[in-house]
Amino acid sequence: MAEKQFFTTEMEIIRTVSGLRDRIAEARSKGLTIGLVPTMGALHAGHMSLIDRARRENDVVVVSVFVNPTQFNNPDDLRTYPRTEEADCALLGEAGVDLAFIPAVEEIYPEPDTRIFPLGPVAEVMEGAMRPGHFNGVAQIVSKLFALTEPTRAYFGEKDFQQIAVIRRMADLEGFDLEIVACPICREADGLALSSRNVRLTPEQREIAPAIARTLMSSTEWAADHTLEQTRRYVVDTVNSFPHMQVEYFEIVDPLTMQPLSEWPAAGDAVGCITVYCGDVRLIDNIRYKAR
Ligand code: PAF
Repeated sequence: MAEKQFFTTEMEIIRTVSGLRDRIAEARSKGLTIGLVPTMGALHAGHMSLIDRARRENDVVVVSVFVNPTQFNNPDDLRTYPRTEEADCALLGEAGVDLAFIPAVEEIYPEPDTRIFPLGPVAEVMEGAMRPGHFNGVAQIVSKLFALTEPTRAYFGEKDFQQIAVIRRMADLEGFDLEIVACPICREADGLALSSRNVRLTPEQREIAPAIARTLMSSTEWAADHTLEQTRRYVVDTVNSFPHMQVEYFEIVDPLTMQPLSEWPAAGDAVGCITVYCGDVRLIDNIRYKAR
């Protein structure tokens, strides 16, 4: 049995690629398993649930905190993305994380990353269509993190449902040998999916925002005796009927290929993926429609 305790009881904050490489090489040489949780910081209970799971399933837990500029297609979104390093480090320390990797942009991108990943159809719809270049940027940073940390397992939240499919595709393309672990969405008591962007909602918007999750949940009952297109319309019209809310897209897709469906599948589940502007805050969520 590998020793569970890696180095010291204190979490180590690492800011350089070479520093991280050294620690990973040491862990590997001891035969320890490594769980990676990539984040952009502004940590909340959703991230902590990924970290808890990584802690239970691996000897060493590495959490990266890096607001990756190459995945932002909107400069305002990058500028206003919450940055809360001190609070993040306190949470990571309490959660028993071994290594917090918090690099500067120049450390990750000493020169521009010009790689284009042939991600294919999985990355062309929904977020891929609305945010050109976003998934290529995600593939750039996650491939760098995988190469650097050589994780046994990497943990991602299902709130970004399409992102997980894209990361699986990138990992296949690059030949990474690891387990990609998809973890369930964490919600507030009123149903709102946890997101770092929720802090930007005004009190009034915050009160209305749970209508997204409520509508998605009620749509699973509606789906039992309505067509896929009627269910899609029900969700769009209901969410749009609330003040401040504007649906950007709602697609019901195949959970593996991410391609929009026009009819309920004869076998297997479907997943409804929604993006809504609540004021100027872009919220995303999804729901599974179980096989009928
Ligand atoms: O989901 C996120 O927070 C980011 O897209 C990720 C996976 C950390 C890459 O920057």
